[in-house]
Amino acid sequence: MKRRGLVKQLLLFCLVGFVVTSVYNSIVSQVNELNVEEVTAKSTTKRILNFIPSTRTSPKNKFKINCRKIIEKDKDEIDRATALMRVSPPSRLQNGDYINATQDCVHFRKSFRYDNYPVTNEEREFPIAYSIITYQDVDQTERLLRAIYRPQNLYCIHADASSPDSLHRALAGIADCFGNVFIVSKKEDIIYNHMSRLKADLNCMSDILSMPQKWKYFINLPHQQFPLKTNLELVKILKTYNGANDIEGIITHGRMMPSRFEFSHKYVNGSWKRIGKRTSKLPLNATIVKGSAYGVFSREFVQYTITDKRAKDVLKFMEDVKSPDEYYWATLNHNEVLKAPGRYSGNPEKKPWLAVYASWGGRDRCHGKYVRGVCIFGVGDLNELVSKKELFANKFYPDFQYLALDCLEEYIYNKTFSHLPFETFYYKQLPFIRKQ
Ligand SMILES: *[C@@H]1O[C@H](CO)[C@@H](O)[C@H](O)[C@H]1NC(C)=O
Ligand SMILES: *[C@@H]1O[C@H](CO)[C@@H](O)[C@H](O)[C@H]1NC(C)=O
Ligand SMILES: *[C@@H]1O[C@H](CO)[C@@H](O)[C@H](O)[C@H]1NC(C)=O
Ligand SMILES: *[C@@H]1O[C@H](CO)[C@@H](O)[C@H](O)[C@H]1NC(C)=O
Repeated sequence: MKRRGLVKQLLLFCLVGFVVTSVYNSIVSQVNELNVEEVTAKSTTKRILNFIPSTRTSPKNKFKINCRKIIEKDKDEIDRATALMRVSPPSRLQNGDYINATQDCVHFRKSFRYDNYPVTNEEREFPIAYSIITYQDVDQTERLLRAIYRPQNLYCIHADASSPDSLHRALAGIADCFGNVFIVSKKEDIIYNHMSRLKADLNCMSDILSMPQKWKYFINLPHQQFPLKTNLELVKILKTYNGANDIEGIITHGRMMPSRFEFSHKYVNGSWKRIGKRTSKLPLNATIVKGSAYGVFSREFVQYTITDKRAKDVLKFMEDVKSPDEYYWATLNHNEVLKAPGRYSGNPEKKPWLAVYASWGGRDRCHGKYVRGVCIFGVGDLNELVSKKELFANKFYPDFQYLALDCLEEYIYNKTFSHLPFETFYYKQLPFIRKQ
C-alpha cells in the first residue's frame, strides 16, 4: 500500500516534470547562456523554483511550510514545522525507485532538475572535483549530489563494499546518467576508525587525477553533509584560496588524542588492539598533527598525495594509527619538511578551518540532537547555519527533523538564482590563503 503510494507519487511527478520541462527547457537553455544577474532580471526564477523533486512530494509543500520564515527564526512557523514532523514522516525515495527512475536518463535528469542551474563562465573555468562517501540513504546521497551538481565538475561516489547490492545498483544507475559522475574503481569495506575510510578517499583521488578534466580543487564529503554555499560562491572562495588547502590542524597535545598514535594498533576481530609503544617515526622528522577527515585540497596537493614518496611514507606510518583519516591530511598540510603544495606554515590552531561546520556538544548550540557529540541539525539551527562562513555543514539525518534539510535545500537552490553579490572580503583576509 505504502509502496504503491510512493510509486504513484513518483509517476505523478515524473509526468508533471515531463510536461513542465518541455515548457521551460527552452528557458533553461537560454539561462545557461547568460549570467546569473541577467537571469534574475527575467522572471523565470519563480517558475524554475517550484519544481524541486524531492520536496515536491514532501509534507513541507503539502502543508505549505514556509522555509523562509523558519530560516528567519519565526517561532510560530518553527512550532508548526515541529508539530508537522511529529505526525507526518518524510516521503523518501528508496533504492528501487532510483533503479527504475534512472532507466531513462534523459527523463531522470529532467525530472530531477539536474539541468536547471545557470552556469557562469567563471564557474565553467573553475571545475571542482568531489568524492561522496556513502553507505546508506540513497535519497540523501542523491540530494547532496544534486545540490552541488554542475556539468563542469567531477563526482566520485564511493559506497561501502558491504552495503546492499540494491544501493550499489541505484548509485550506478545515477552515475550512468552523467558523463561527470562515476563510481570509484575500487570499493573499500569501510570500518569506523580504520584506514579503509582514508583509502576510500584516496581511491577517489587517484581516479579523479587520471581524468582529463582540469579541476582545480578536491573536496571530500560524507553523504550526511550539505552545502552552505552555491557552486558560484564556492568558486569565488576557492579562487581566493589560490592554491592553499583548507585543512584543520591541532597540535596541542591534550587535544590530539595521543594514545591513538603513541601506541601501535592492530585491527583484530572487529576492534582495535593496542600492541605496544610505537617505534616507527614519520619521515624527515615530521611531527604528527591532528585534524578532520574532511577538507578542501588543491589539485597540486592531491597530485602530491597520490604520487610523492614523502606522502606515501606518511601513509605507511598511519597504518597502525587509530582513525588515521584524522591525522593524515593534517600531518601532510602542517609540516614544512614534507613540502606539500598549498601547506600552512604558521600555528595551525590560530587559523580558521572552513571546509565544514559541525556543532559540537559543550561548545556550540544545537536545536536538533547530539549523536556521539555532534549535532544532528534541526529546523531551529537554520538561522545560524545560513550565515556561517564554512562551505558545508555536518550533519543531517533524513528521518530526524527532516525539514531542516528540506529547507536548507530550498535556500541553497534559491540562492543559485539570486542576484545578491557575494562578499569575499572575509575570505581575502584569511591567514592560510596564498597571496595573489
Ligand atoms: C525560495 O523562492 C521561492 C520563490 O520565490 C519562495 O517562495 C521561497 O520562500 C524561497 N525560499 C527560501 C528559503 O528563501
Ligand atoms: C520498478 O519497475 C519494475 C518494472 O516496471 C516494477 O515491477 C517495480 O515495482 C518498480 N519498483 C519500484 C520501487 O518502483
Ligand atoms: C577472533 O575470534 C575468533 C572467534 O571468536 C577466535 O577463535 C580467534 O582466536 C580470534 N582471533 C584473534 C586474533 O584474537
Ligand atoms: C631528525 O632529528 C634527529 C635528532 O634531532 C637528527 O639527529 C636527525 O639528523 C634528523 N633527521 C633528519 C632526516 O632530519
